[in-house]
Amino acid sequence: MTNVYEAAAGLYDVLSGEGLVYRAGRQRGVPLLELRPGDTVLDLGCGTGLNLALLVDAVGPGGTVIGLDRSPAMLTMARRRVQANGWASVRLVEADATTFDPAQVADELPAASGGRVDGVFSSYAMSVFDDWHPAWQRGRALLRPGGRACIVDMQLPVGRARLLGPFVRMAAAVGGADLNARPWTVIERDGVDVHSTALRGGHIRVVAGTFP
Ligand SMILES: C[S@@+](CC[C@H](N)C(=O)[O-])C[C@H]1O[C@@H](n2cnc3c(N)ncnc32)[C@H](O)[C@@H]1O
Repeated sequence: MTNVYEAAAGLYDVLSGEGLVYRAGRQRGVPLLELRPGDTVLDLGCGTGLNLALLVDAVGPGGTVIGLDRSPAMLTMARRRVQANGWASVRLVEADATTFDPAQVADELPAASGGRVDGVFSSYAMSVFDDWHPAWQRGRALLRPGGRACIVDMQLPVGRARLLGPFVRMAAAVGGADLNARPWTVIERDGVDVHSTALRGGHIRVVAGTFP
C-alpha cells in the first residue's frame, strides 16, 4: 500500500501542525472519555501515536490502550514512541479500521474486560477513512454498555477563520481527508450525555458521548 501516511510517516509529527492546531483537539477530547485507572480504550487510526501519552495516563499502568492503524510505517513510529516511553499498557494492531474483525481487538484485551473496551477514541482519522461508518460500527460493537466514545475531527473553519479555508483545503487534500465527512454526528445522534465542542475557528470538532 502506498499512500501519504506510508510515504511520510517519519515527518508526520513535525509537518502535521500538531503544536499550532491539532494538539488542542486531543487534549480536549481524551478527558471527555472519562476513563478511570484500569480501563481499556481503543484508538481507531492511531497513526504515530500522538494520543498515546494522554490515553496511557488516563488508564494508568493497570489499564490497556489499543492503537489500531492500517499503515505499517505509521505504526512503526507509534511503536518507537511506546518503546521510548516504556508503555507496557499499549498494544498496536495493524488492521483496516473499516474491515477489521472486532475479535482481533478483543484478543488483545485483558480477560476481565469481557472483550469490550471502556472507551473508543479517534482523532483526525475517520475523515481519512474511505468510509467511516463501518469503522464506527466496529468500534461501537467493541464498546461496553455505558462506555464513552469521542471523535475529534475536521471541517472547514467558520466565521472569520474562514480566511484559513484555502490552507485547510490544501492540508486536507494532502492528507486525504474529507472535510465534509462529519463523523462526530453519529455521537450527537446516538449518544447520551453528549459533549460537543468546536476549536480553532470551528475547524476542529470534539464530540463525546455515552452509549447505553
Ligand atoms: C491524519 S492521520 C491521524 C493519526 C492520529 N489519529 C492523530 O491524531 O495524529 C490518519 C491516520 O489514519 C490512518 N488510516 C487511514 N485509513 C485507514 C483505515 N482504513 N484503517 C486504519 N487506519 C487508517 C492512516 O494510516 C493515518 O495513520
